[in-house]
Amino acid sequence: MRKFLFPVLISFLLPFTALAGEGMWLPFLLGQLNEADMQSLGMKMSAEDIYSVNKGSLKDAIVHFNGGCSSSIISPQGLLLTNHHCGYSAIQTHSTLQNNYLQDGFWAMKQSDELKNENLVATFIERIEDVTKDILKGVTDKMTTKERQDKTSQNIEAFKKAYAKKKYEDILIKPFFKGNQYILFVTITYKDVRLVGAPPSAIGKFGADTDNWEWPRHTGDFSIFRIYADKNNLPAKYSPDNQPLKPKHFLPVSLDGVETGDFTLIYGFPGRTNEYLPSFAVKQVQDVIDPARIEIREHALKILDKAMRNDPNIRLQYSSKYARIANYWKKWIGERSGLIRTHAVEKKQKMEVQFAERLAAKPALNQKYGELLADMDYKYQEIELLAVYREYFHELFFRHIEIFKPANSLRRFFAKANDENYKELAPDTKKSLERFYKDYQPTVDRDVFKSLMQLYTDNVCTAYFPNILLEDRFLEGYDMEQLATEFYDNSIMTQPKKLLKLIDEKKIDEIKNDPVYRLFMDIVDAYSTRLNPEYQALKAPIDSMQRQYMAALMEVLPEKKFYPDANGTMRVTYGQVEGYLPKDGVQYLPKTYLDGVIAKYVPGDYEFDLPQHLLDLYAAKDYGQYAENGRLPVNFLGSNHTTGGNSGSAVIDAYGNLIGLNFDRVWEGTMSDMNYDRTICRNIMVDIRYVMWIMDKYAGAKRLVDEIQFVHPKAGMKSKKPWKNKTTKKRRKRKW
Ligand code: ARG
Ligand code: GLU
Repeated sequence: MRKFLFPVLISFLLPFTALAGEGMWLPFLLGQLNEADMQSLGMKMSAEDIYSVNKGSLKDAIVHFNGGCSSSIISPQGLLLTNHHCGYSAIQTHSTLQNNYLQDGFWAMKQSDELKNENLVATFIERIEDVTKDILKGVTDKMTTKERQDKTSQNIEAFKKAYAKKKYEDILIKPFFKGNQYILFVTITYKDVRLVGAPPSAIGKFGADTDNWEWPRHTGDFSIFRIYADKNNLPAKYSPDNQPLKPKHFLPVSLDGVETGDFTLIYGFPGRTNEYLPSFAVKQVQDVIDPARIEIREHALKILDKAMRNDPNIRLQYSSKYARIANYWKKWIGERSGLIRTHAVEKKQKMEVQFAERLAAKPALNQKYGELLADMDYKYQEIELLAVYREYFHELFFRHIEIFKPANSLRRFFAKANDENYKELAPDTKKSLERFYKDYQPTVDRDVFKSLMQLYTDNVCTAYFPNILLEDRFLEGYDMEQLATEFYDNSIMTQPKKLLKLIDEKKIDEIKNDPVYRLFMDIVDAYSTRLNPEYQALKAPIDSMQRQYMAALMEVLPEKKFYPDANGTMRVTYGQVEGYLPKDGVQYLPKTYLDGVIAKYVPGDYEFDLPQHLLDLYAAKDYGQYAENGRLPVNFLGSNHTTGGNSGSAVIDAYGNLIGLNFDRVWEGTMSDMNYDRTICRNIMVDIRYVMWIMDKYAGAKRLVDEIQFVHPKAGMKSKKPWKNKTTKKRRKRKW
């Protein structure tokens, strides 16, 4: 019997088995699930060193940066390291034509130069607990989706009320494994986070869109902030009296560099993944959803690109919008081809066949789950077109056709405003409109409107059209030029001065009669009364079945280690430094050097220009302690399972020291959000020595470099339990 069972088990497990690399693990479960695996990959720490509630651990240096990015603490004075693209809007806000920090970089040469940022927050995780029992109390299998939702929301509210937390703490409860598990995070959010340093974009964003999602890469994608606290070291709003945070832990910086095969641990806050989709759902993304998104964005990008090439002012206004659209456009192309290349659908199908075989052997389970996949498949077919139309609505009306943005702000303003508060609320709306119009070109947007409305009327079912477009006069079809003339050319939304004046004069009816405003209201109506309710009516049962499928997988495969999908909460992922084979006959090495930066240099180019000072330092080979055999390392690759949100994550070595900063993935492997494949999924990191070199040699920010505790773990001088290290001048000066 045994002999027979063993191979069956193995073959069944294969598609599931997490090869090192795959998985975004909850830090408080590492001891149970991953410690041995991590140590077999070379890790010298224990799980308790990474996450502990009882004593200091690496966790205490890991920070959620403004809710969307990751970051870490790198000095005893609360210095925080994240990506340039994560600090971008803070850097931009402080930039003027005279002091263009985006272009020239920024370095606070003394503490009083550090710049405060309104609304920028940094969140630590105090502790993590499994609260599933409390949250699912009274929930039964018989409940409808709605009943289940209501019950869990009630339980969450009750739990939060009863939970003993300190005044400065927050509590966050999130569903895991599709709602089969609930985890509590106790957090502390600091509200005084100041900008300390940023390289020029020519370093921090070197290669821009051309290199985005690509290897070989040469970007110094980092920026530096500092957290400030009140006199009790607790969170406080900005005050000149606040002091630099004294962190519970900070990461020492290893100067030993990385080699192929070195253990890497990424500690951060991945945003969203979907690893347990059934085969037909993956196929839908691959063949229907991604192609629709890609096509829409291609149309928008083509128009922006042409306009930007012809006019430097438009280029200035649109380059960051272009980058934002292009980022996920390129990601989806990579995702789609990666799914095809790694046979993701077939892989999931095979797994489903085996799932069914296992069920068949267990009547009770079969009774419970036997029909699940077939039912889900049917629902996915039903929802397919609605899902595509929904993409159209979101992409077109809330993103690419810009004229709807002022219409939307006004819609929200009018919904809130009344006779009493109008005057009070108006300035905020006006401010946001002014910000919008600063970078708005009606001629460009008009072309986007024409191009995308054509795509929309060609592809979306008329049942979900805004009413205006269903008027009889359109029976013969739509002439885009005529549509643009009717809506655009007569709209006050393209005339900011007039619009702002109408707001001042409180001429609400006049605004509400505007053709674009009316069209937008019709769009919102079509979405919220027709498309979205129909979509949600199918999505709710799909979500419920997905939850059951997740539970079924875990029940049918008790021997397998599952990790929950990313949901913006703190995770650990680990792997190794390694290259990959991007295509037949080509091998990518995992490390790049400053020589490669220089080789890409195109003077005056907006993506590949370089600052003269960097060229001079290169010519002088002035690399100081950051060199590796006479060369300066820049970026490296690893097999760590990351996603959006992991930007700015600390990359930690086997001993708990900082070796890099995560900032991207290779586009061939972006399907890791649904199907991680160790052969081609790679994350891209900045080598910490490049970061330190820029701070030290390029910027001359000695004051900051002096805060860093440098270590040489590979020389046998590995940091002890890192949190026990005290930074002293003597220690830092020591020759290793
Ligand atoms: N692809 C990286 C991340 O998703 C970097 C994006 C910022 N850089 C850029 N060139 N757009 O989100
Ligand atoms: N650049 C991404 C971010 O901002 C990380 C890249 C990825 O998606 O892995 O989070």
